[in-house]
Amino acid sequence: MEPGRKTCDVAPTSERLAQLVSCLNKLDPLPDVALITGDITHDGTAAQAAQAKHLLDPLKMPYHVVPGNHDDRTTLAKVFSGSTCPAQDEEFLHYVIEDHDIRLIGLDSTKPGAPGGEICQRRADWLQARLNEAPERPTVLFMHHPPVKFGVLETDEDGFQGADLLEGLVERFPNIERILCGHIHLTAHTQWRGTVVSTAPSAGGMRLALDLTLKKSSGFHLTNPEFQLHHRTTDGGLVTHQVEVLENDKLYLF
Ligand SMILES: [Fe+2]
Repeated sequence: MEPGRKTCDVAPTSERLAQLVSCLNKLDPLPDVALITGDITHDGTAAQAAQAKHLLDPLKMPYHVVPGNHDDRTTLAKVFSGSTCPAQDEEFLHYVIEDHDIRLIGLDSTKPGAPGGEICQRRADWLQARLNEAPERPTVLFMHHPPVKFGVLETDEDGFQGADLLEGLVERFPNIERILCGHIHLTAHTQWRGTVVSTAPSAGGMRLALDLTLKKSSGFHLTNPEFQLHHRTTDGGLVTHQVEVLENDKLYLF
């Protein structure tokens, strides 16, 4: 949000994001990269995007953004230019990051004006071409919307157009180790076509109130900022940890 404003009038998301950035910068080992999976703004404004950039720029590791349904992709592309969003396409904010052991492919799953996700034929063709470039390299896709139902209204009702296009690609590339998403403000994982789709919690401390009845719109709880840490283990595994940024991080011994 803009400086001094709270999201939905109650959530101090800027403050929470600053706490999260400070926490990430103290991690040892320092993460290689931070992936921001959309809804970087609440209303899509340039002022909110600029505030997010101001808060994210102190990160000691490179970071990359993809748009969410609350963002305006044109505004995001202007504010987060350069390496944070190196999209070359005039229409979609998608790109490949080749700087790490794991190849990172950022996808633009947004459909302007709609809360749900979309991968159209053009984006699927682009992704297929990128995947064909390095079918042996461990790869992570990251985008805002999970392409599969998680049993909550935000996925099951908002929907994802073109999930079948994505599905057809994902099952042909077993080197895709994860599809990392946001949107539902809650950590959840599910197996999908030979990979794992995982949703990140809220960096701004707005955790979805879990409701699996699919009957009423869920609210959110005010929490500490949270994030996922994807760690390459010494035996080559990719392990995902859920981390909450604690205000009181005093240690006690078992
Ligand atoms: Fe979203």
